[in-house]
Parts: sequence; structure tokens; C-alpha cells
Amino acid sequence: MPLARSLSVTSLSGLEEWDEEFDLEDAVLFEIAWEVANKVGGIYTVIQTKARLTAEEWGENYFLVGPYVESNVRTQVELIEPTDPVLKRTIDKMNSSGCKVYFGRWLIEGSPYVILIDVAFTAWSLDRWKSELWELCDIGVPWFDREANDAVLFGFLTAWLLGEVRNDTQSEEPPHIVAQFHEWLAGLGLVLCRHRQLPVATIFTTHATLLGRYLCAGNVDFYNNLAQFNVDKEAGDRQIYHRYCLERAAAHCAHVFTTVSQITAIEAEFLLKRKPDIVTPNGLNVKKFSAMHEFQNLHAQSKNRIQEFIRGHFYGHLDFNLDKCLFLFIAGRYEFSNKGADIFLEALARLNYLLRVNQSDVTVIAFFIMPARTNNFNVETLKGQAVRKQLWDTAQTVKERFGKKLYESLLVGQLPDVSKMLDKEDFTIMKRAIFATQRQCQPPVCTHNMLEDSSDPILNCVRRIGLFNSSADRVKIIFHPEFLSSTSPLLPMDYEEFVRGCHLGVFPSYYEPWGYTPAECTVMGIPSISTNLSGFGCFMEEHIADPSAYGIYILDRRFRGVDESCNQLTSFLFQFCKQSRRQRIIQRNRTERLSDLLDWRYLGRYYISARHMALAKAFPDTYVYVPHEPNSTSGFRYPRPASVPPSPALSRHSSPHHSEAEDNDEDERYDEDLEAEKDRVNIRQPYTTPFKNKSSL
Ligand code: UDP
Ligand code: G6P
Ligand code: GLC
Repeated sequence: MPLARSLSVTSLSGLEEWDEEFDLEDAVLFEIAWEVANKVGGIYTVIQTKARLTAEEWGENYFLVGPYVESNVRTQVELIEPTDPVLKRTIDKMNSSGCKVYFGRWLIEGSPYVILIDVAFTAWSLDRWKSELWELCDIGVPWFDREANDAVLFGFLTAWLLGEVRNDTQSEEPPHIVAQFHEWLAGLGLVLCRHRQLPVATIFTTHATLLGRYLCAGNVDFYNNLAQFNVDKEAGDRQIYHRYCLERAAAHCAHVFTTVSQITAIEAEFLLKRKPDIVTPNGLNVKKFSAMHEFQNLHAQSKNRIQEFIRGHFYGHLDFNLDKCLFLFIAGRYEFSNKGADIFLEALARLNYLLRVNQSDVTVIAFFIMPARTNNFNVETLKGQAVRKQLWDTAQTVKERFGKKLYESLLVGQLPDVSKMLDKEDFTIMKRAIFATQRQCQPPVCTHNMLEDSSDPILNCVRRIGLFNSSADRVKIIFHPEFLSSTSPLLPMDYEEFVRGCHLGVFPSYYEPWGYTPAECTVMGIPSISTNLSGFGCFMEEHIADPSAYGIYILDRRFRGVDESCNQLTSFLFQFCKQSRRQRIIQRNRTERLSDLLDWRYLGRYYISARHMALAKAFPDTYVYVPHEPNSTSGFRYPRPASVPPSPALSRHSSPHHSEAEDNDEDERYDEDLEAEKDRVNIRQPYTTPFKNKSSL
């Protein structure tokens, strides 16, 4: 296999360049996850965004291993013949033994190689492999757990693959393999590699613990009882004991165990009984625009498209000023209470009350983007967009007729008689169009036909709090139970465009090992609310002196009861609604400035450390690991912005003559904070701070 290059990781302002001298000559990296080229949630984002940096480091020696899903392959992967002879022999051998293994390039930045395994094709081996698993470590996987069955197939197939690569008889000198397995679904491959004593350096990365996710979703005071849980019993009670065993076995068998945040590291220590060796926070592939305010322009463009959708959705009830409308959203896998959709709805009900009693002219539209089981869009929602289109077409027709008359009048040298510019037919067309906009019902809360409408937690909560998009409500709700797509007939925008067009992302999670959604908002310059129970929220608290001044609101869900947290959330939302356009523009500029902090170019170093540590543990004669980062890094911290914070109470314009007219489109040029950017200083170290008040949890 060709040589791999080692990498120099870019510095952040104030953070030294990090040159890694580790010699990766003749080492090969396999990264194995169920979400390789297969989107489910945030793990896909980790792998997809990190690929460019990892491919820069490992070049041709980087292989991602995932499941073969035809619909994904058709749109994301270019299938090719394996370029590497060892891999070609391996794949040919497996395919001639009854497997279906594909090789290709994943069409994302970095174009990494992918090895995709069709697990269903090898389902004939399931029973045999399950008995082997039972013989090996007494883990019995029940027939009805489809995901766990897939995990067994995927595990045996990945271990087979790595074994073939390692034991290829025609290679003169087999490479040193480092294999990183993500999450329990991929963990069995690691356990089998160790059991078969394959000379492979292994890393297990968990992005959550199974038990943590399940316990939090129930009615459990999780963080105050971490040390008390009888883990086996809890897993058994929830019928996930076999999954839990697979996860725990992978964590214990790995040379290096990592997780995505400090808070999950503590959870893993208690629930999986192993302390992670390294925390590897999640980064993003940050795109910098050369024009300073390009991201502000993108906000305006995307906002216009959301406004178009709103015009259709609220047809017949457009009795609010769209220019004074704020778009809030929550998005992610549908875990109602873990993701904090419960307290968001409750806070929206309180906000509605506050806006009404204060006679605010602001209207809040809150989007819930969480996939649930549906059978397509509902008729009323589709009709809304059709009506909007019809009104637009009518306006165009009348405009054209009007224009023609105007033109003809000018051609004969006369000023038009305005009263004759529209004739009877024009009025008929317009009246017909207006009649079409009449509507007996309120604009729908949900855009789709839900399969479990009567038991759906969001809909039931909406029913309880009574936010039905009525005219009197200042807060409107739109539940879109499907991830966004640019090909949707309803809201044809991809997720990134949608986020850019919104004003605030609201992610008041109770259980959130990292939480990509607020991080994605940050790099796009959109403020967000997260919590001090999420990996992202804790990370930002650690690195920013005054996060809310940068549009990073961190809700306290650790030391407050639910009602108190809900009040705090309501207060964040209400304060946000009181900001002027000018203040929002300044705040977006500040938010966007934090993106370096979340760039893989900086955060990638933790993955690099983990790989080096694993290689040194597995091959001590060849590699030596010198603890470098993360425990001894010189850290950095964003200072409080030099200028007035954008809190409405404090930053009202000092001029007594201030008017809303001042909040015009030129405002984005006004940014008193630009100088402050130069003040980023090294103040303290990241990741070294232990979990605050661990004992009080
Ligand atoms: N997401 C998406 N389309 C949507 C809504 C969300 O692709 O319409 C993605 C979002 O970009 C993010 C991921 O879903 O990367 C959710 O990841 P997160 O870490 O926040 O939560 P998880 O679902 O993994 O618990
Ligand atoms: C960006 C655009 C401005 C626009 C503003 C709207 O800054 O560059 O032209 O006026 O967004 O901001 P708002 O917070 O009201 O959506
Ligand atoms: C998991 C976690 C989420 C995290 C993601 C990527 O799905 O729930 O918080 O951001 O993995 O690590």
C-alpha cells in the first residue's frame, strides 16, 4: 500500500501549530461505522465532515467501512475496482465465499474510499454467527431485534475483512492496521478482532451510551444517580441487555476508548465501567467566505425562501407582518424529551402569553424538524403552496395586461388613464383568486399525515398547550416530521439553507452527548440555545467568557428543575424577540466568529492522538506515544466582546432619536466588534477542567 503522509494541523489564532512527527509509513486506517454513506443522525456528520482532513493525512491508506444501502450508493458513491491489490484480493475472496462487498469512492469532500458490505446478503450466516457469539462471550441476541441482528452480521463481516487484509499471504510485509469502530452497532467487529488476536490497533468511539439514552428518555433523574444504577438490571428491564453487552465488550476490548465530550466520558465511566482515554470533540468542515458579509446575504436569501413557504402555509390567515417574523427551529432525531422538544413547547406557550400581554408586533414561527412515521404530506399543506403559486400567477397575468395597456398608451404619447388600466376581466381574475384563498380551518400545525397522530408526543403537547396557529397567537407552530430536502414539493430547501434562513436554533436537550445542530448553527452565524447537559454547550462554556454575547445561549438544565429551566428558556426567547434587526445582525457576526473553534482543522488533533495511542499500545516495538495533546495543550478562550453586549436592555441605541428606520439593510456593515476579534487570547486549557461539581450531579 502506498505511503501515508503525516499532518500538520492548522492553528487557531493564539493556539500553536501542532506538528505531529508520528511516522505513519506503512500504516493503514480503517474507520468503521453504520453511518458511513448512510445518514441516520450526527454520526454521519462526524464521518462525512472529518473525511477531508483524515484523507489529507492518510491519503490512499484511508478506508471507510459501512453497510451497503442501494439508495444511498446510487446518490453518494461511485463504485470502482479496488486500486490496492491487497484489498482487491480480500474483496474478491469474500465475494467468492458468499458475501457482497463493494468498493468505491464516497462523493464528498476528500473523496475517501469506502468499502460497503451488504449485510442482508449474508443473512444465511446469522444463526451460525449468533451461536458463535454465544459460545464466545455468552451474548444471546434475540431473533426479533433487527438492529442487533444487523450488528452481528456487520461485526462478523468487518472482522473477516480486517483478518483477510492482515493475513494476505501475498503481501511481503503486512501493514500496521489501525481500526476505529464507531458506536455499538459497529462494536462487535472490534471484539472479534481482539478475540482472534488479529494484530490490529483498535479504537472504540462511543457517541452516546445505550443505557444513558434509554434511561434519560424515561422518567429518571439521570445525572444525580449515575453512580447508583444497577446497569445490568436497567439494561435487562429495557430489553437491551444484549446490545448493552456488545457495547460494553467493545469499550473494554479496545486499545483506546474515546467519546465525544466530557459529560459523556463521565457517563461512560459509570455505565460502561471504563473511563475514556481521550475525548474527541466533534468538529465541522468550516467554509470561510472571502466576502465578509456573505453569510449575512445568504441569511437574507434563505429567509426569503422560508417566507415564501409561510405565505403559502398561512394563506387566508396572513394577518401578521412577515418582516417582523422570527423563525425559530429545533431539529434532529425524534427523541421528544431527550432533545428537549417538551420544554421548548412549554416555553413557546409561555412566550406566546408574554408577547400577547406586551402587545408585541413580533410573530414567532417555530419549526420542529424531527422525522416520524408518516404517509406523506397532507392535502391542506400542499394546497397552501398551490394557492400561493396561483396568486403569484394571477398577479403576473394582471401585471402583464396592465403593462401592455400602459405601453400602448405611452406609444401614442398619452399618460394612461389610471382608472381604465384594470378592466372587468382583470377584476374577475383577481376576485376568483381571492376566493380561492378563503379557508375554513386554521393553518395546519403538522405538514404530513402522521401514522401515529393520536399518540404523537409533539402533537399531544400542542393539543394540551393549545397553540393551533390561530390569529390571536403570536407564536405559531409548524411540525415537519421529515428531514428537509431540496427536492421537496413543499419546502424545497436543504437543511443547511434552511438553518441559514432562520433566526435562532433551539436545542434544549436533556440527553445530548455532543449535539451537532447548535454547532452547525454557529458556523453559519446563526445564534442557538443549547444546554449545560450537552457536549457542545459545555465545550462552548469552557472556551467562551460570555457565550450569550456571541449568540450561544446555554440553558441550565443541570442545577435547575424543569420548571425553572423552562422559565429560563422563555426568558431567552423573549429577550431574543426584543432585539432589533440591527442587534440581530451584530449578534450573527459575533456568532460566526466562533467557527474556528469548531473546525476539524483544530479538533482533528484529538482523533490523531487517539490513533497514535492505539498504534503504540498495539505495536509497542514500532510506535511510541508521547502524550502531547489533549492533556497538555496550551488552550485558548474567547474573551467577552469588547463592545456592548447585544442584550436588548443594555444595548438600546444611546441616541434619543433612534428609530426603527435606522435598522436598515446597511446595518450589517456596522460591527463595533471587529477589533475585538484580534483580542483572542490564550487564557486556559481546554479539556483539562474536570466535570464541574461532579459530586453534586
Ligand atoms: N439534520 C439533517 N437534516 C435535517 C435535520 C437535521 O441532516 O433536516 C442533521 C443535522 O445536520 C445534524 C444531525 O442531523 O448533523 C443531527 O445530529 P445531532 O448530533 O444534533 O443529533 P443526533 O441525531 O445524532 O442525536
Ligand atoms: C442580513 C442581510 C440584511 C438583512 C438582514 C435581516 O444581515 O445582509 O440585508 O436586512 O440580514 O436580518 P433579520 O435578522 O431581520 O432576518
Ligand atoms: C449521537 C449523539 C449526538 C452527537 C452525535 C455525533 O447521535 O446523540 O449528541 O452529536 O452522536 O457524535
